[in-house]
Amino acid sequence: MSQTKTHVSDLPDQLLETVKLTQEPHKKGRLLTGDRPTGRLHLGHYVGTLKNRVKLQDEYECFFLIADYHMLTTGFDKLPEIKTNIREIVLDYLSVGISPERSTIVLQSLVPQTAVLQLVFSMLVTVPRLQRVPTLKEVMKDLHIRQPSMGLLGYPVLQAADILIVRGEVVPVGKDQASHLEVTREIARRFNEQFAPVFPEPDTIIGEVGTLPGTDGQTKMSKSLGNAIFLADDPETVTKKVMSMYTDPKRIHPTDPGTVEGNPVFTYHDAFNPNKDEVEDLKRRYRAGRVGDIEVKRRLAEALNAFLDPIRTRRTVAQLAGDADEILLEGSKRARSLAEETLHMVRTAMKMDHFPASVFH
Ligand code: TRP
Repeated sequence: MSQTKTHVSDLPDQLLETVKLTQEPHKKGRLLTGDRPTGRLHLGHYVGTLKNRVKLQDEYECFFLIADYHMLTTGFDKLPEIKTNIREIVLDYLSVGISPERSTIVLQSLVPQTAVLQLVFSMLVTVPRLQRVPTLKEVMKDLHIRQPSMGLLGYPVLQAADILIVRGEVVPVGKDQASHLEVTREIARRFNEQFAPVFPEPDTIIGEVGTLPGTDGQTKMSKSLGNAIFLADDPETVTKKVMSMYTDPKRIHPTDPGTVEGNPVFTYHDAFNPNKDEVEDLKRRYRAGRVGDIEVKRRLAEALNAFLDPIRTRRTVAQLAGDADEILLEGSKRARSLAEETLHMVRTAMKMDHFPASVFH
């Protein structure tokens, strides 16, 4: 985790003015995180990151990025659904309480300045360094990619550009993204040493919240494993998924003593049932063989549907109002003006300001 941060006072005078204009004094700093638009978000996303993001909105100046260009790094097969997925994710964000008044929701491809920054950044990191990023090997193995394209190799460089184009200082992500953030910090440091201290070295917040198991009992809820409950699932679908959930496989009769620990039905009860007394009572009776799986699941379905109900309502309201596109356009516009400012700072620092910034308008 990086300790050194670039402070406004370190910046050259000619850059100071633009920086001052964009800082929100009452918030701790600028935060950016993002998702690739791979599909609808589910309860695993809620537990792992969305819940935390809703809270972080009040502490930080938040940017939530939908990274559609990152989708191209592993092929073009997902392109036909990408438009729908982008809108669904915006609705997912809004439905859980990410608020476009307090936060900025951005579509990566609507901030083309990011690509210019990636170009500059690609000169500041070596090919072997990127070949050592562990996620690259994993993706290549999982998707049977024999030779990475320049774009796939540059995945972390594009991510660095996403963060630094708005001069993000804090990046909350899952553990799997830590190696990418290391690349971001190295690039920021390199640029600052080589030219002028334009960029913060962003801090990573690794979510300490656990991952949610799938309905099939596998360690992780995931769309591709088909074990997910989606935020947008209707009550009947949720009930059906819950009733067929994996529980203690050794338990045959309701009178058999059951295992609570590691039982996904109880993991979900702990995460989503606000009635702690009910949960404790169910656990006690489950262990003693005095409650059937069906009842435990029925109570879970009720709790989950009660939890999802306001989320569904907010989604429907946003959907009917046709808000998604407007919010994306507005947020991306905000990001673009910051991005233009950053590129101006970059060109100035690199002495590539052959012409005044006004020629770009
Ligand atoms: N790589 C991230 C993921 O797959 C998504 C992402 C793209 C991102 N750009 C970002 C996350 C910038 C944090 C910051 O989850």
